[in-house]
Amino acid sequence: MSEAKRLAGEQAIEYVEDGMVVGVGTGSTVAYFIDALGRIRDRIAGAVSSSEQSTARLKQHGIEVLELNDTGPLALYVDGADECDPHKRLIKGGGAALTREKIIAEASAKFVCIIDPAKQVDVLGRFPLPIEVIPMARSLVAREIVAKTGGQPVWREGVVTDNGNVVLDVHHLRIVDPVGLERELNQVPGVVSVGLFARRPADVVIVGGEPPRVL
Ligand code: A5P
Repeated sequence: MSEAKRLAGEQAIEYVEDGMVVGVGTGSTVAYFIDALGRIRDRIAGAVSSSEQSTARLKQHGIEVLELNDTGPLALYVDGADECDPHKRLIKGGGAALTREKIIAEASAKFVCIIDPAKQVDVLGRFPLPIEVIPMARSLVAREIVAKTGGQPVWREGVVTDNGNVVLDVHHLRIVDPVGLERELNQVPGVVSVGLFARRPADVVIVGGEPPRVL
């Protein structure tokens, strides 16, 4: 499986242009992208990172990490996903980095998503949907999720996000209306962000393989 991730990550380099500030996601597939980016680091102006984990890897490669507030809009964001449907809508947040990932995706003109074939699904929801929540609202949000979705929220105990919040993973969902569910869950007080990337899906999906498939 990691071979498919490597092939997807390396293929994404095709989208990097000289002088770019590149938005960089989080996860094991992105790690391959960062390693490939390191090999062309002299061609880029720097990166905006979605997590402490990716920041550390970017810096190891000598890539300058910039603040989104300083760069303004980005041309390109490259990130992985936990699930991807045929409309390029995603579940993300398995690595608890969903909020910063969503911010950078929103700020970027092109979102290239890099996945291995196991991430492709017809309907989102087999992977438990991560939701980042303000700690004091954990129980409130969990009750609202049960009432609104019928899904089963499970507190990801011991995990604190880079923003100091907690994560609920919602099991047993079959998400037939991802845009509607994203909108509805975003309304619940205490929800910081929902790991559904449906309102702003990926623009390009690269499925790792020999050769990689570009959707
Ligand atoms: C991080 O919170 C997630 O959104 C990642 O994008 C996702 O979990 C990446 O999966 P891989 O580690 O399989 O690339």
